[in-house]
Amino acid sequence: MKILNNFTRTVNVPEQGIKLEGEEPSIRDKYKDDIERVLISKGCLKKRVEHLASEVAGAFEKVREVNCLVVLKGGMFFASDLIRLIDDETELRTRIDFIQASSYYNKSTPSGSVKLKESGLLKGENILLIEDIVDTGGTLKKLQDYLKEKGKFFKTCVLLDKGLPKSPGLKIDFIGFNIPNEFVAGYGLDYAGMYRGMPEIVIVKKELLK
Ligand code: PRP
Repeated sequence: MKILNNFTRTVNVPEQGIKLEGEEPSIRDKYKDDIERVLISKGCLKKRVEHLASEVAGAFEKVREVNCLVVLKGGMFFASDLIRLIDDETELRTRIDFIQASSYYNKSTPSGSVKLKESGLLKGENILLIEDIVDTGGTLKKLQDYLKEKGKFFKTCVLLDKGLPKSPGLKIDFIGFNIPNEFVAGYGLDYAGMYRGMPEIVIVKKELLK
């Protein structure tokens, strides 16, 4: 798989966001009242996800197979892009399974209780847990404890990390972007069910949040 020269490590997103040269991301009129600005452009997401796919492929090289466990709902677009790249451009074979984790319940801060719902039997040993964002880390901790209880070997890939203090024992193997502590949406992430379909990562206006 082609390795891109830049984006080789976790990318730190500056306060004003990141875009590719020549890209001019702007908020569509229909979302102008809700969204403050674009934090990560479509092009930057694409480039970074391509690089993550090759990092993951390197880590699972020996076993030649990866069982992707996608955390719904927020991880849906990230996982879909990542898994297709892994399958299309690397030697790894993939399986896909889903698990739903909810903690926000339409609010802008976590409730403190994380509910998990499996979508089927988790097959295989070499699991790649794919999550959209780590905020307090409560959700990821619950997911990792769940996999440890089942005795599974796993690695964790997260698109966005707010860099807040994490629960002891939490281990993240691959991180897409380190972002500022803002409420973000788009590319699968929502606020009260909205904005998941936006192709970039955006910052939701503070006055909208409850
Ligand atoms: C969000 C997000 C992560 C979690 C991160 O899920 O998708 O799973 O919160 O927060 P934490 O690190 O503080 O636990 P949410 O509960 O909003 O469910 P969703 O993915 O269905 O939107």
